[in-house]
Amino acid sequence: RILRGSNIVLSNVETEACPADGWPEFALVGRSNVGKSSLLNSIVKRKKLALTSKKPGASRLRPLGINSEEHALAVGKTQCINHFRINDSWYLVDLPGYGYASAPHELKTDWNKFTKDYFLNRSTLVSVFLLIDASIPAKKIDLEYASWLGQNQVPMTIIFTKCDKRKKKKNGGKHPEENVQDFQELISEYFEAVPPWIMTSSVTNQGRDEILLHMSQLRNY
Ligand code: GTP
Ligand code: MG
Repeated sequence: RILRGSNIVLSNVETEACPADGWPEFALVGRSNVGKSSLLNSIVKRKKLALTSKKPGASRLRPLGINSEEHALAVGKTQCINHFRINDSWYLVDLPGYGYASAPHELKTDWNKFTKDYFLNRSTLVSVFLLIDASIPAKKIDLEYASWLGQNQVPMTIIFTKCDKRKKKKNGGKHPEENVQDFQELISEYFEAVPPWIMTSSVTNQGRDEILLHMSQLRNY
C-alpha cells in the first residue's frame, strides 16, 4: 500500500514553528472553494480529515475538521499552516484558500505575509501544488498567484480540480479540458517550461494515483 496512515501534527502560522524533522513536504494551495480539502481527503482516503464546505472560506473557521480537541490550537485562528503527517515519512500541508472576498482585509494581508514567507523559506518544501478549478474559466487571481510562484522560482505542480464537472455547451460553458488548455496558454509566459500538471476529481478520484506517484518521484529526486 502506498498510504499506510495519516494524522494531523501541527497547526501554526509561522514558518519557523513548522515541524523540524526534515521530512519532505508538499503544500496544497488554491482559491477558496477550489476543492483543496476534498482533494486532501481524497488523497489520504479519509472523508473527514480536512473539513469541506459548500460555502467558500467556511472551513477556515475550523480548518482542521477531524477532531475538535486535536484542533483546539487552530480554533479561533482562521489562518493556519496545517501539517498532515503521512506514512511517518512526509507531510501534506494544507494552507487556507486565497481570494475569499469576505475575509477581513487584515487577515488577507496576514495570509500573504506568512504564506509567502513559508514558500520562500521552507527548505523541506518539495513542491507547491497549486489547485486550479477546471470547471470554470481561468481567474485573474489564479494567474497572479501562478506568476508569483513562477517569478520566485518556487517549485510548482498544477492540480486541476473538479474535472468531473461537465458544462452545457449551449450555455457557453467550456469543458474542463478546454479550461485546462486555456490556463496553460495563459501562464506559459511566466514559465520557461509549463509546470507539471495533473487533472483530478475528488468525486471520481481521477488523478489520485497520479498525484501519489508524482509525489514519490519528487521525494526521491
Ligand atoms: P475552503 O476551505 O473553503 O477554502 O474550500 P476548499 O478549497 O477546501 O474546497 P472544498 O474541498 O471544501 O470544496 C468546495 C466545494 O466544491 C464543495 O461543495 C465540494 O463538494 C466541491 N468539490 C470539491 N472537489 C470537487 C470535485 O472534484 N468535483 C466536484 N464536482 N465538486 C467538488
Ligand atoms: Mg478547505
